Amino acid sequence: MATESKLDKNKISKENLKIHEVHKPEEMPDWITVDELARFLHESLKPYEDTVEDIKRAIDYAFSDAEGKGGFILIGEIEKQPVGALVMLHTDMGGYIPPNILLFIAVDPVARGKGIGGEIVKYSFDKAEGDVKLHVEYDNPAKKLYERLGMTTKYAEMRYTK
Ligand SMILES: CC(C)(COP(=O)(O)OP(=O)(O)OC[C@H]1O[C@@H](n2cnc3c(N)ncnc32)[C@H](O)[C@@H]1OP(=O)(O)O)[C@@H](O)C(=O)NCCC(=O)NCCS
Repeated sequence: MATESKLDKNKISKENLKIHEVHKPEEMPDWITVDELARFLHESLKPYEDTVEDIKRAIDYAFSDAEGKGGFILIGEIEKQPVGALVMLHTDMGGYIPPNILLFIAVDPVARGKGIGGEIVKYSFDKAEGDVKLHVEYDNPAKKLYERLGMTTKYAEMRYTK
């Protein structure tokens, strides 16, 4: 069941946004757990959502210190409520493909169109070491935002689906 956003609509602005950069579970802000973050992302990614289990798997990967793994999470906060979140994964394939994959970015539906998503994505580009790639459906309006932030589509992504 979708949970009602607890954000105070009058406080939603880029100026009130605080971005937390999290590399390991101990760095999570004390007002949100990994499970709550996964549920927030699941709800806010709609209609492009992944399951809570898959989102948690990605968060575990980002927190991993195993060779070639890792990444980081960004949590956008307004008054101890999540307003947006991003998951960036590091891959060991730099030199062949970009070493960073922006896997999830989502902003609470009540907070969209106010520049919050743009701020979080820009922050992630700044923090990621090396280039960043991501997948976006052709019809997702987020594509416009990514282009505005300087992303290009030089390659066609092709898949062999089994
Ligand atoms: C994509 C998303 C993170 C953008 O967050 P945001 O805070 O609304 O972004 P900003 O306010 O910084 O920028 C708005 C831009 O995002 C795009 N956008 C996408 N969905 C939007 C929405 N529901 N409302 C407003 N703008 C939206 C618009 O094209 C807009 O570009 P423009 O300013 O050039 O017109 C947010 O819409 C979202 O969570 N969408 C659902 C999840 C999703 O699709 N994630 C990306 C998967 S690849």
